[in-house]
Amino acid sequence: MRPARTLVRYGVRHALPAAYLRRSARRGDPVGRLLRDPAVRDQPYGVHEELRARGPLTPGSLGLVTTSHAVAQEVLRSEHFGVGWDRSAAPRPVRWALQYGDELEATGVAEPPSMLVVDPPDHTRYRRLVSRAFTPRATAAFEPMIQRTADALLDDLERRGGTVDLVGSYAAQLPVLVIAELLGVPVERREDFLRWGAAAAATLDPGLSFGRYVSAERGLRAMHGFLRGHFERLRRAPGEDLVSRLVHLPSDEGLTERELHATVMLLLGAGFETTMNLLGNAVVLLAAHRDQWEALISDPAGWPGAVEEVLRHDSPVQLTGRSATADVLVAGHDVPAGARVTVLLGGRQP
Ligand code: HEM
Repeated sequence: MRPARTLVRYGVRHALPAAYLRRSARRGDPVGRLLRDPAVRDQPYGVHEELRARGPLTPGSLGLVTTSHAVAQEVLRSEHFGVGWDRSAAPRPVRWALQYGDELEATGVAEPPSMLVVDPPDHTRYRRLVSRAFTPRATAAFEPMIQRTADALLDDLERRGGTVDLVGSYAAQLPVLVIAELLGVPVERREDFLRWGAAAAATLDPGLSFGRYVSAERGLRAMHGFLRGHFERLRRAPGEDLVSRLVHLPSDEGLTERELHATVMLLLGAGFETTMNLLGNAVVLLAAHRDQWEALISDPAGWPGAVEEVLRHDSPVQLTGRSATADVLVAGHDVPAGARVTVLLGGRQP
């Protein structure tokens, strides 16, 4: 690690936003409370209610906030909103800090060129390259492998008997085994992926403590180190998998080293962090609502609806945001170019 750069990165990406959000939370700002108050993070429903009572689009500390499904759809689908933000409009010290702290080895999935934070035309280019591997036909072909993997994990739980940690031994294992197989990365490294994935996911939330940031950065560095070695292996001996294809793209489509790292790191991390939480949340909800559990046991046709309901009720991704790329009117509000809209996915209401 290079301590000066780590410190600058921490300052601009976590300490500054944390101070700002903490102050907003103290003043009662709902987004500040959602992001900084641990009690509200655990039970965000009261804040969601408050926001709903204020209307479909209301001002907050990070711009406008919405809990409305219709407004969320409008903003997320609009060509007048993007995921990126204009760095050139940031104060000079912030721009300096972002540039000085920039280092591939410490780059997380919330930083460019991760698909999560880049707009077209780059986004379209990355998306086209990976979506070939996720067509309905391609994913259907993986179903038998997913079923086999789930059965083997459940058989193992049964053999062990007694009390088990369901997240560690099932909810985390199933998605990581599946995405590792799907991407062609070595499944025997899955415990490493889980550790590094947790580190990468932690950096998505602004305002980590210094200790947590340093350990997250260690995880990111370890993951980039693994990816570098993996890409080198595939350059020498490619397989049939998506990552081999990305490494061997024709030169007119080729990804830079940084783009390759960002794309594969996102696919690997997003591939299990979210699904692990979905499985865990589903078990907690079904344990609390036994009638729903009994209903699913007697009529398994209800499972797809149950999955949707868990995603709606206790979403693994609680919020996202977009910036207006032009002056635009949304739900009767004038949203000027550059303004941010926070979409509370976890609090959406029709
Ligand atoms: C329950 C499971 C999942 C949930 C709740 C979830 C949620 C989300 C959300 C909300 C976004 C959009 C974020 C935004 O644009 O602001 C997103 C994007 C993304 N997710 Fe997932 N995800 C899940 C599973 C997966 C899996 C299994 C993969 C990997 C194969 C994956 C890969 C991605 C990628 C690559 C993006 C970026 C797409 C783009 O920008 O075009 N996700 N996910």
